[in-house]
Amino acid sequence: MTPSEPAPAVRVPGDKSIAHRSLMLAALAHGRSRIHNLPRGLDVLSTQRVLRGLGVAITTEGDVTLVDGRGGDFVEPREPLDCGNSGTTIRLMSGLLATRPITVTLDGDASLRRRPMRRVADPLAAFGARLTLTDAGTAPITIAGNGEARGMPLFVAVPSAQVKSALILAALGAHGHSRVTGELTTRDHTERLLRAFGVVCAFDGEALVVDGPARLLATEVTVPGDMSSAAFLLAAAAVVPGARVAIDEVGLNPTRIAFLDVLRRFGAQVEVVETNPGAEPRGRVTVRGGPLRAIAIEPWEVPGLIDELPIIGVIGAFADGTTTVRGASELRFKESDRIESFAAAARALGIEVTTAPDGFAVRGPARWRSGAVVTAGDHRIAMAFLVAGRAAGVAVALDDPDCMAVSFPGFAGALEAVA
Ligand code: S3P
Repeated sequence: MTPSEPAPAVRVPGDKSIAHRSLMLAALAHGRSRIHNLPRGLDVLSTQRVLRGLGVAITTEGDVTLVDGRGGDFVEPREPLDCGNSGTTIRLMSGLLATRPITVTLDGDASLRRRPMRRVADPLAAFGARLTLTDAGTAPITIAGNGEARGMPLFVAVPSAQVKSALILAALGAHGHSRVTGELTTRDHTERLLRAFGVVCAFDGEALVVDGPARLLATEVTVPGDMSSAAFLLAAAAVVPGARVAIDEVGLNPTRIAFLDVLRRFGAQVEVVETNPGAEPRGRVTVRGGPLRAIAIEPWEVPGLIDELPIIGVIGAFADGTTTVRGASELRFKESDRIESFAAAARALGIEVTTAPDGFAVRGPARWRSGAVVTAGDHRIAMAFLVAGRAAGVAVALDDPDCMAVSFPGFAGALEAVA
């Protein structure tokens, strides 16, 4: 693409985090909610499958998804419900069910069965719910909810929006006042969407306050494009001097746009135009590539970049100098151990990487070679290295290209269209 050509404007699938929460809150609400632009990735289908298993009717009308809320009055399923590959589904649903008077088993695929669940099960037990895990603290998880739970002080010990959201969702079903403190600076979609469903979950200077039992009212939600999916296409332009890409209707929630600042620090040009303000603002992001220099990602930045770190590592391989990521041990608990899977994939393409317990360092510019990438079934590893191969002009063979369908079905075609 030459610098004089207009930036092609593309769209990316709807935001996965907002989609899961919209479906769950709609299921808790009274009345029929209408969700626009619900993404079709497998993770969001997992949430729909689990909610249907609890008796929630979910239908479509054109491209609008209709959810008939049950006001929290769910049907106890006879069989375990399958959360597939989706950590957000299993952790948020564990919270939602902890204060409902039914017993439900949630399970998932081999990758999900390896991920830590005590981080939600332990704090949720304070509501008087019984949560049973394997001895390793993993799924399947059986939740015997307590419909008589009282509101209480709650502490988020890990910088995880999934843990924070699980506690908020549980507090909605408890009787009385709950105060959530601890690690709160993660993505705030649950808090924002609750407001759209008529429930205040506000920070009072010390804690997020939730009053239960909360009565949610059905509403209309438009899911913006997913910034974490957009990041791969934006990166594909950023690493090629003079290349440009524009993405329309992408989510601009302040807790999700730290990646744009990272691109600027690397040396790319980034323009943001908000077109739709509102609870979840959205707009157009345009990125133009330039000569890049290495940057350092510090521990305090990690919660705002958690899903973008693999692609940041790839961008580092195009930048001059050593790009470092520290304070990111959470990467080890994602769909794969993303420190190890990133490093192995990078080395296969000639990138020099060193790893640490809490991060990695990448030396650029890399001496690229074609190679076979082991995705470890992880969608973000697969997408990051497809971008690398395309931008570097080397052939990348993915062992499991299908894994990209959990968040971005059709990613390879979308990448070809922009870069
Ligand atoms: C998510 C939170 C993050 C993120 C995941 C989606 C969410 O996980 O990695 O892709 O929707 O709340 P953690 O909460 O474990 O950091």
